[in-house]
Amino acid sequence: MALNPYTSIEHGQPGRVGCLIHYVEETPSTQEVARALAADGAPQGTVVIAERQSAGRGRMGRGWHSPPGVNLYMTVILRPRIALAEVATLSLVAGVAVAEAIETVAPGLVELKWPNDVWLRGRKAGGIIAEAVTDQHSRLACVLLGIGLNLNLSAEQIPAELRDRATSVFIATGRRCDRVAVANSLFLRLHSRYMETETHGFGAVREAWERYSALTGKRVTAVDAGARLTGTVAGIDSDGALLLDTADGQRRIVAGDVTLEGAYD
Ligand code: BTN
Repeated sequence: MALNPYTSIEHGQPGRVGCLIHYVEETPSTQEVARALAADGAPQGTVVIAERQSAGRGRMGRGWHSPPGVNLYMTVILRPRIALAEVATLSLVAGVAVAEAIETVAPGLVELKWPNDVWLRGRKAGGIIAEAVTDQHSRLACVLLGIGLNLNLSAEQIPAELRDRATSVFIATGRRCDRVAVANSLFLRLHSRYMETETHGFGAVREAWERYSALTGKRVTAVDAGARLTGTVAGIDSDGALLLDTADGQRRIVAGDVTLEGAYD
């Protein structure tokens, strides 16, 4: 049995991100471990970290490559006082926190690709998924915020079909980083950005998100509810929607996928 490398992280007050850390050596997905803990009443801020996932999940039914020993796979249980429709903004809030944490090990390299990809040198090094759990009255009970970060993954460990799109901190910088230090810094940043949003709404972290935006000013194609739209990204609005200047005027993209012209998605 592998030792839990995250024991040195200070837990902090109940309710803070990382106040309880459940470390598992292997699981299909930390999202499911967190879902079960949340159903048992786990407090806000509880974090599940896995050394390895056998069926890691990405957005839109994709998988998440999760080999052991090199990366960070975690889910945070949040119990926000927001409407169901606002849950997607939490993945943008998490994006800012992730960018700030990655900045400490890859200064000047991190960008965010709407809605929730973390890029280093134009390739994906991380992803975020926000899954809402509702109660019997269809009200928001909690959010399972899943974060996967490629930290010390080597190029050889990337499956061949992802090699032209995926990267890691190690590949982008040539330096290995301390996973526990990155996790700790992420917990602190996430807690602080989450509190800011709870108090002032998503608008408060929007500017920080825009500073990391990989797409602003770029030509992209967006697929939203089956429709394809091409235009130049103007930014994001206070609800987290992507603003696209098209030949027919400005459009809001609220969900879906965006492809940068001349790059991989
Ligand atoms: C994406 O970019 O599509 C989102 C990827 C999210 C991956 C993380 S890894 C930890 C957590 N557990 C999962 O099964 N998925 C998320």
